[in-house]
Amino acid sequence: MTMMPNAAAAVRFHDHQPPATSLSLRDELLQGLRASPKTSSPKFFYDLRGSELFDLICVQPEYYPTRTEEAILRDAAGDIADVVGKDATLIELGSGASRKVRLLLEAVRPTSYLGIDISRDFLLNSTRRLAADYPWLDVHAACADFSQRMTLPTGMACEHPVAFFPGSSIGNFAPEEAESFLRGLHSLLPSGSGLLIGVDLIKDEAILNAAYNDAAGVTAAFNLNLLERLRDEFEGDLDPATFSHHAFYDTAHSRIEMHLVSNVDQDIRVAGEIFHFERGETLHTENSYKYSADGFRTLAARAGFESRALWTDPDRLFSIHYLLRA
Ligand code: AVJ
Repeated sequence: MTMMPNAAAAVRFHDHQPPATSLSLRDELLQGLRASPKTSSPKFFYDLRGSELFDLICVQPEYYPTRTEEAILRDAAGDIADVVGKDATLIELGSGASRKVRLLLEAVRPTSYLGIDISRDFLLNSTRRLAADYPWLDVHAACADFSQRMTLPTGMACEHPVAFFPGSSIGNFAPEEAESFLRGLHSLLPSGSGLLIGVDLIKDEAILNAAYNDAAGVTAAFNLNLLERLRDEFEGDLDPATFSHHAFYDTAHSRIEMHLVSNVDQDIRVAGEIFHFERGETLHTENSYKYSADGFRTLAARAGFESRALWTDPDRLFSIHYLLRA
């Protein structure tokens, strides 16, 4: 066998032209820095270095979500194929690069796959690889922001759509936001569609705290990389070494909070603006919400999704829900 240079042609690309965001990204960042307490959206973590560090987090011994979700998918593959059924259109919200979607594709054997991502290059690369590796699959790519109102691409026979949203990405939303995100999916998907969604479970605090404070310091580096991004990409004048990583589980909100703590009283400059930090003051960089199985079912039900199946690992660290769009 030789290489198949034409495999790339097998991806059908649908450009939903999400608005160029660089300017509003900057505004959003500055708004968070002006606020009290200071906050930054987790999406600012993911420059190239941040994405590499996140991949490294996923293989740390303390960070259980990625490997546990994969194990659940592997163990439940047959069951998942049964509830999803035949002739599905698998719609992946984000990525397409992960091993998880491959496990699912091999188990479910859908007719078509639609990857939706806001990053055009990333999306094209990952869907081209899928098209090359699964010649039996009709592969589509839609460049769009699925967190905003969008529609399924026209000219694509979207029979029996099943959306896949792995990784407990939903955990970055506060519960009210998660509910409105699901409402958005409810209006995107026709009635009878499925939603397979990975959700991190509430568990022993020590396990949660360790997962966001790995001994190798990769999560700390991931958090601190945000400051390097401010410096290099947003004309920042600041010393990342004057900040520390701080992550802890807040039982009352069922969430991990990540912060960057200023170790000194200082002024930093970002994009021409000066921001004062008291010693010990923090920039709140991420929330990662955890749910009980019932807690998430209730939230999903309020957004019009009925629980059909639930899979967890033997230690009940992570959950995968199968929901039906009512
Ligand atoms: C990608 C949001 C699921 O919350 O566990 C990992 C991000 N932050 N370690 C998570 C993250 C620090 C991750 N999510």
